[in-house]
Amino acid sequence: MAQVLITRKMFREAIAVLEEEQHVIEINDTDRILPSKELIDRTTGKAGLICLLNDSIDSGVMEALPSLKVISNVAVGYDNIDVDSATKRGIMVTNTPGVLTETTADLTFALLLAAARRIPEADRYVRAGKFEHWELVQPLMGIDVYGKTLGVIGMGQIGQAVARRASMGFKMKVIYFSSSANEQVEKELQAEFVELDELIVRSDFISIHVPLTEKTKHMFSSREFRKMNKGAILINTARGPVVDEEALVAAIKNGQIRGAALDVFEEEPRVHPELMKMEEHVVLAHHIGSASQETRLRMAMMAARNMVEGLRGKRPPNLVNELVF
Ligand code: DGY
Repeated sequence: MAQVLITRKMFREAIAVLEEEQHVIEINDTDRILPSKELIDRTTGKAGLICLLNDSIDSGVMEALPSLKVISNVAVGYDNIDVDSATKRGIMVTNTPGVLTETTADLTFALLLAAARRIPEADRYVRAGKFEHWELVQPLMGIDVYGKTLGVIGMGQIGQAVARRASMGFKMKVIYFSSSANEQVEKELQAEFVELDELIVRSDFISIHVPLTEKTKHMFSSREFRKMNKGAILINTARGPVVDEEALVAAIKNGQIRGAALDVFEEEPRVHPELMKMEEHVVLAHHIGSASQETRLRMAMMAARNMVEGLRGKRPPNLVNELVF
């Protein structure tokens, strides 16, 4: 039996997994992100912390919580946690990979199509009562997706799922840049591994699927936008800071690229005010890549099971830091 803090509203099925093990749960059952001090106060004396991607669990937080044994993040990305610091303290860190892959790839493609075919603009057009009759040469013409070139940056599970949709569903040419080439993907999808600069120059659509690290921060900045094809659209469903938002705004304004479809932002929930004003070729969503009912439940269950295993002193299925067992 251990004590666990859950930092935000949680599915009851996931709470049940913890209660079956007789763990004592405290939940912040509100939409409020706990300020650091409150998070520390409420986790003091507890062995488990189930948190979300917008809870910052840095070394200061860990330093203040000597009882902490397991941090279970309900997300595949874990850039909100100082993993090195956790490892030094012997704290297990877990994430939720795999269960959100297809859902996030669906959203990526939805955004790509929405920006290319200007769906949010068409929706606003109809609602504004502007649809009077069909025109051959009409105001909201988009661009084709079928048969175009998609550049995938980061060929992990989500990158592959996006590439599969592009290649099999839309007969797109897939080129990719990743930490290493993936022969199986190349064979299955006729995908071509290229250097980042080549990908940027050749792509009609670029979709980002890398984790946020010191290396990937601002991977897309003015230099990259200058090289992009003028008709290209950038899609980001990974992490906001991978793209320099200031540079993106300038690139769209100067016509260096056609537009962008963004599910993530540099300083969430703040969105760059200029992006907020851009209604043509720019589509925005509120970090909903994994937000289907089924997937969010799967993520919560996985996080709960990771916690249970960790608190049993076993290696949790989705441990991200190398601890000796
Ligand atoms: C993640 O899991 O990292 C996503 O950003 C949210 O589902």
